[in-house]
Amino acid sequence: MLHHDALLPSACRVSMRCLSTVTRWLAAGLLLIGSAARAAEPGTADPMTERLAACAACHGSEGRTVGDTYYPSIAGKPARYLYAQLVNFRDGRRQHTIMAAMLANLSDRYLGEIATFYARQPHAAQPVFDGATAEQLATGERLTRQGDPARKIPPCQACHGEALTGVEPAIPGLRGLPVRYLDAQISAWKQGARRATAPDCMGQIAKALTGAEITAISAWLASQPYAPDARPATSLPAPLPLDCGGVLP
Ligand code: HEC
Ligand code: HEC
Repeated sequence: MLHHDALLPSACRVSMRCLSTVTRWLAAGLLLIGSAARAAEPGTADPMTERLAACAACHGSEGRTVGDTYYPSIAGKPARYLYAQLVNFRDGRRQHTIMAAMLANLSDRYLGEIATFYARQPHAAQPVFDGATAEQLATGERLTRQGDPARKIPPCQACHGEALTGVEPAIPGLRGLPVRYLDAQISAWKQGARRATAPDCMGQIAKALTGAEITAISAWLASQPYAPDARPATSLPAPLPLDCGGVLP
């Protein structure tokens, strides 16, 4: 059964998982202290990988996380999408205390360089989720593929691309993401805890879905086989069915 633990240490339910989360955070904090000075100075001779070592503690080497984790892979996502998220965390439209602290003093230009670095990395091969019920798979596939016109929910691929691998330059893919991460993100939009630049089309869509539907969609998406070399599409097949801030040039 999926639940929405936000992976803050206080929300840990199983002590071993809690311990490993706390250990990671401590490790990230120590690495951060070591690398903050360099991270704040773009243009030094250090390669990006070394400068972003503190990020790797949670996001994996070059932004690739694999396995049953909450931390999203960021490798290979569209650059402008990644940039928008770094700005969102820094400016409070998305919530993560450690990331917000790490990004607080970084300039827009440096955030742009970080986004470009991760966008160029190859994806991780995320294992396919096998915990969905038949009912979740049926509901999830129907809502993803067809949406629900009566409730003004467009099909997800109208914006996330025919193969759901995202669309350059600003729409992320929905494949290869941890199931708990997907569920938590759509739920955060529904509850207003995650916001994108207005008009926030994802907020509109998430608010129209029920909690059970969000869980079903997340379960179906994470159950789909995923080609690690899949790239975002280069253009949208048709105009966006809803206006989304930050997507159009
Ligand atoms: C302590 C662990 C941790 C560290 C260190 C960390 N992150 Fe994150 N990051 C997360 C979590 C957890 C999320 C998802 C947060 C949420 O629920 O919205 C996230 C989300 C992101 C996202 C958005 C991904 C998406 O698909 O929308 C980006 C981009 C990102 N992080 C980049 C970075 C960069 C760059 C650094 C280093 C400067 C960094 N992170 C350091 C844990 C971390
Ligand atoms: C009208 C266009 C549109 C439609 C339709 C749409 N999305 Fe999105 N979605 C976006 C945009 C734009 C973003 C990036 C928002 C941002 O910048 O934070 C996004 C981001 C997301 C994310 C965040 C991914 C990450 O890495 O954090 C998830 C999850 C998501 N959408 C799920 C869905 C699902 C599921 C559906 C179908 C029920 C759907 N979307 C339909 C436009 C759309």
